[in-house]
Amino acid sequence: MNDALEGVRNHYRATGLTERLKAALTAFGPEDQRLDPRQLAALDQFHTIGLAATDELTKLVGITADMSVLDVGSGVGGPARFVAATRGCKVTGVDLSEPFVEAARYLTERTGQVGQVSFQVASALELPFGDGAFDAVLMQHVAMNIEDRARLYREIRRVLKEGGRFAIFDVVSNGVEPHYPVPWARTAATSFLLTAAATREAIEPAGFRTLVWRDDTETAKAWVARLRASGPPPSPNLGVVMGPDFAELAANLGRNLLEGRLGILTAVFEAAPASA
Ligand SMILES: C[S@@+](CC[C@H](N)C(=O)[O-])C[C@H]1O[C@@H](n2cnc3c(N)ncnc32)[C@H](O)[C@@H]1O
Repeated sequence: MNDALEGVRNHYRATGLTERLKAALTAFGPEDQRLDPRQLAALDQFHTIGLAATDELTKLVGITADMSVLDVGSGVGGPARFVAATRGCKVTGVDLSEPFVEAARYLTERTGQVGQVSFQVASALELPFGDGAFDAVLMQHVAMNIEDRARLYREIRRVLKEGGRFAIFDVVSNGVEPHYPVPWARTAATSFLLTAAATREAIEPAGFRTLVWRDDTETAKAWVARLRASGPPPSPNLGVVMGPDFAELAANLGRNLLEGRLGILTAVFEAAPASA
């Protein structure tokens, strides 16, 4: 594993995460009580706009029950569980962080979705699947941790069927240095932001045709403003996953958005024929 990937893995190292989650989830009832995936949104949707963003992305893709879906950089599995619950499809998640994958499996047991949703430790740059294995690939707030975008998008194209869909929900650069630490990087060393235009320039040559291209920065800013106005966050929240400094990381993301340093991009692509 190269230095950049190792740095990202360290950022999400989350020692003792599953034990912390077990303790935090007593707030919802005893261990044997089945949880609804939506109940976990404050701690398992690790991106701006929360559950609503995942819901919107799956609608834009048009995910149906017969599709096989891959969630790249699946975190603690919230998006995968929500998509499976609302769309009826099977979802596979891959993530670089071993503690996150272990936590994702534990939470999936708690929601009773083990037969429908599964997780593996893997790098997005080396996906452990055959060519054309998936109908759709989702990737929310992951690309900003990945330096080698050409390889990332080639690898995603490889595991998609021709005509399959690739949906992204990305934090993008506005060409100005953000304030650190942020939720995906405590320093600039593990942050590889691109502008929206550069993101598209990296994705299309990998064999994709753009279907949806949307600047969601204003929606994200409104979400930040609502969070600020609503007082302390619900408990348990992503602080359980990322540690006591999460409030500072999240506050900096909000500040970067409100100051116009960062933007939010939603896009959906179609996998073009391999020769295109
Ligand atoms: C901000 S979290 C988003 C998690 C999830 N997509 C969500 O929205 O809830 C970023 C995730 O990307 C994962 N990640 C970063 N670089 C990766 C890579 N090269 N391969 C696989 N996962 C990666 C991290 O481990 C982390 O779980």
